Amino acid sequence: MAKVLSDFRYVSVDHLVAPGMPTYQHLAVGAEFQNTVYDFLKSFWYQRHNLDLSDKELQDLLDDYKNTYYQPLHEPTRDLLKSVLDKHPAGTPLSVIDLGCANGTLLHYLQSIDAMDDVRFVGVEPYKVFADDLRETFPEQQVIVGNAEEFPDMDFDSRLDLPVTTVFCSLVLYMLSPDVAKRCLKKATEMTDLICGFDYCLNARGEIESNDDEVVMLEYNAPTGQIYFAHEYEKYFDELGFSFETTSEPSRPVEGREVGHAAFRAQRLRGKS
Ligand SMILES: C[S@@+](CC[C@H](N)C(=O)[O-])C[C@H]1O[C@@H](n2cnc3c(N)ncnc32)[C@H](O)[C@@H]1O
Repeated sequence: MAKVLSDFRYVSVDHLVAPGMPTYQHLAVGAEFQNTVYDFLKSFWYQRHNLDLSDKELQDLLDDYKNTYYQPLHEPTRDLLKSVLDKHPAGTPLSVIDLGCANGTLLHYLQSIDAMDDVRFVGVEPYKVFADDLRETFPEQQVIVGNAEEFPDMDFDSRLDLPVTTVFCSLVLYMLSPDVAKRCLKKATEMTDLICGFDYCLNARGEIESNDDEVVMLEYNAPTGQIYFAHEYEKYFDELGFSFETTSEPSRPVEGREVGHAAFRAQRLRGKS
């Protein structure tokens, strides 16, 4: 990591937010180091997955995640999900693949708004504790224990033998290196015409200064190892023949520093494969 750190270059996002608005620090990193940074980032999640938690700590963690969609930050995710439900034809199952699904945060939300009738869900989650909790709470739904690198090779056809309404990715793509995120999105476009999510979107259209051979990252909580990727979604989706739009303003200050997250929807462009 030391070598990579010396190759970080701080970049400014002042032109993207209102004067004085607090935001994360941003870094431009040589693209050749993206795997090193990604490995470093994964170690944060994998260390967390290996924590020896007491029963109470574990229960608190699971309860916390069950309520995730009710955090103020997630208001755009709730609105986005409601719009997907509103547009969904009545009488057909709503089928969802959820990458980085934790313990079924999305299902808990659907249940709370009484929208679980006819939902067919397959989640993907590397943390077995979350996956087990999801299975226990929603035994009729499915979850695969695995990570994003394995996602492109996963067989969803045999699990969901109907068209996939949407592939959902909430607060997970920015944890993936550009190469891994692009491979996951490509797989998603092979399964559905609609990809929805909630992610860091302040660089979705390449707004943050960087060179072609750099990737942009944000210091979300650097001391703990959380340095996330600020993906250029519009470019990624354009290459896949999908439109990309944010469905909320990418500026939601919560507790002082959360500027840049937004909900998004990406749709297959007519006439493109
Ligand atoms: C911040 S949580 C978001 C959970 C849920 N999607 C939501 O929005 O409520 C991030 C989730 O992504 C999972 N995750 C982290 N790294 C991942 C990776 N490399 N591949 C797949 N999932 C990952 C974590 O275990 C965690 O459940």
